[in-house]
Amino acid sequence: MKDIVVSGIRSTGNLHLGNYFGAVANFIKMQHQHPCFFFVADYHSLTTHPNPVDLLANERQVIIEYLACGLDPEICTLYLQSDIPQTAELYLFLNMLAYLGELERVTTFKDKARKHPDNINAGLLTYPTLMAADVLIHKGAKVPVGKDQEQHLEMMRTFGNRFNRLYNVDYFPEPQAFNFGTELVKVPGLDGSGKMGKSEGEGNALFLCDDDKTIRKKIMRAVTDSGPTQLNQPKPDAIKNIFALMNLVSAKDTVNYFDEQYNNMTIRYGDLKKQLAEDMVLFINPLAQKISDLKQNDDYVTKVIAMGKEKAAASANKTITEVRKIIGFK
Ligand code: TYM
Repeated sequence: MKDIVVSGIRSTGNLHLGNYFGAVANFIKMQHQHPCFFFVADYHSLTTHPNPVDLLANERQVIIEYLACGLDPEICTLYLQSDIPQTAELYLFLNMLAYLGELERVTTFKDKARKHPDNINAGLLTYPTLMAADVLIHKGAKVPVGKDQEQHLEMMRTFGNRFNRLYNVDYFPEPQAFNFGTELVKVPGLDGSGKMGKSEGEGNALFLCDDDKTIRKKIMRAVTDSGPTQLNQPKPDAIKNIFALMNLVSAKDTVNYFDEQYNNMTIRYGDLKKQLAEDMVLFINPLAQKISDLKQNDDYVTKVIAMGKEKAAASANKTITEVRKIIGFK
């Protein structure tokens, strides 16, 4: 039997290039090769207490963006996490097996707790348990994600294995992070530091729904430095980031051309950014168009969500019935 694929994206706003290359690009390929479940993680978004109007709009926006990127709801299962309450029940069971110490040691928890000391809620602490429930509810074995999710995947394996051991069953598979290019991806932001992210501040992320003007403006403002001062000098992080983004959307020859210019110190960052901006527009513009078209088609989006709910519920029901039985509930 083919491995089951499960993955999701939080419904906290529009998808950016990091979500695309870290996750969705693999979803698109995998849907033709495996049974796939791709969801909108709307339960997870509750850790930051969105208002009901935003919650609904963001859920639909992610479904629309999945569709615009090329996910086919007839081939894979596209659904809202909150449409499958079986996940919440499995989350409860797994929480009985999750220890405070190991949850407190999770890097993303520590980061969020540091950034938002006034909102360290239990949902944030047990974020990895809910992720494990998302995947194990379909007995998922492959999980296409970006590099920042590696530790969460390890927790999924820990909880699944602990369940198997406690009840002396060989029930849950060991979910593995997956990327076609082997190494998990980390897409950098435009602000010279770390990764592209929704919460990293204005101008750091390029969104799939950005218009051409916004894309050009963000890229022209991207952080650089005053240029190389020696031949073949190693690139500082901000410049490495620009080249990394170029590698994602530009032709190999283009990247090589600017790389050579950097190495022989003739590079002009204005030209580099202009080229990146044009290649980025060519990449994002068709997606932005499709997103805008799908926004006009409310009925279709509603139909897709209903269809996904039905398919995901059938799989989730089977698992939760078996899990209840293993635990001893009759
Ligand atoms: P979220 O919304 O933060 O990210 C969704 C996906 O996008 C990837 N990603 C990136 N990849 C590369 N470079 C970046 N700069 C970048 N930014 C984001 C993330 O690695 C992720 O794959 N907790 C998950 C959502 C989730 C989930 C799950 C995923 C909930 N349950 C079960 C897999 C399985 C998250 O942080 O989403």
